[in-house]
Amino acid sequence: MAKSWQLNLDREHFLARHWQQKPLLISQGIPGFKAPFSRHQMAGLAFEEDVESRIIEHRDEQWMLEHGPFSNSDYQRDSPWTLLLQAVDHYIPEVAELRKLMDFIPQWRVDDIMLSYAVDGGSVGPHYDNYDVFLLQGEGQRLWQLGQFCDETTPLLPHDDLRILSQFECEQEYLLNPGDILYIPPGVAHWGIAQGECTTYSIGFRAPRLNDMVSRWADQLLEQLDSEQFYHDARLEPASRAGEIRPRDIERVVAQVQAALDQESGNHWFGELVTEPRYEPEQDDDDLAEAKALLDDGPEFVALSPAAKIAWQQESDGVIVFANGDSETFPERILSALIPLCEHWRLDGEQLSKALADEASKGLLGYLLYSDCVYVE
Ligand code: SIN
Ligand code: CO
Repeated sequence: MAKSWQLNLDREHFLARHWQQKPLLISQGIPGFKAPFSRHQMAGLAFEEDVESRIIEHRDEQWMLEHGPFSNSDYQRDSPWTLLLQAVDHYIPEVAELRKLMDFIPQWRVDDIMLSYAVDGGSVGPHYDNYDVFLLQGEGQRLWQLGQFCDETTPLLPHDDLRILSQFECEQEYLLNPGDILYIPPGVAHWGIAQGECTTYSIGFRAPRLNDMVSRWADQLLEQLDSEQFYHDARLEPASRAGEIRPRDIERVVAQVQAALDQESGNHWFGELVTEPRYEPEQDDDDLAEAKALLDDGPEFVALSPAAKIAWQQESDGVIVFANGDSETFPERILSALIPLCEHWRLDGEQLSKALADEASKGLLGYLLYSDCVYVE
């Protein structure tokens, strides 16, 4: 059973003063923290074909990137290097458990937990990210330097795959020990250099691009708009200059487009966008049929898959449940099963019996099973 850690943080103060605004060092953010996944286990996980892994090496003033899977010989290098493992929380429940520390931030904002191992002097270079991140020190020590605010106009080194800053202006420095956490908002330049061997757990957040939001919103609206509606201009003013599109014509166009955009379009698109899975689930039909049969027979428990992206939204006609990029509407009473499942990642005992006795809640569990968000045992 994974250990439950406590986060030593004044959440209200953090959200009001730091979240999306300025960095914060949370000294001993997790008191007594002991890294749940060792550097040796990390080295082994990077052998796996399915796990997204990279090595960044700083050799002869050049930043080099290699993609995994790796083998032992990849770990024999003369220059400082770092191994990065993406979404380790999808594979290691003890690592996934760390996401629960962030339960004061809506779950749909959480992305995944990246782990890094670096040899002495290892680093991924000075850079900025577009996402909020909590950098939790696992083993050893890392010196973090924080620099200027950056955006898409900030100059980068010419590199095909890495986004390394060509200039880094160090403004603050922190030496992190196990259990210390450094929060960094989007856009703040940072550079972490291992002092001896060390590991870092990056609890990362997702923020949809405005581009994607507009495009998904428009897609949903287009599905609902009547394609037989056309531009109309009753009481037209006579044309005086041949060929001209007049300001008055444009006013009409904008007003009509605006009226179309204002039409009730529902907002399934948002939850579907932010619950899109990082990796497409691969489901085996036989396993699914077996799990469905077990759900009918009465399983011991139903648990959230560590990789599941799940969220819900209350609407006037029920609750929309988003599961790995998909959505379905259920009656409001399923919340008595859904909220505990989202909070504790597990339903069992009386809570599960009650859910299975209610047709809608049982339907919800079946839906979550089909969308690969839960497993049963
Ligand atoms: C690292 O763990 O080395 C890099 C994490 C980051 O800078 O986002
Ligand atoms: Co970063």
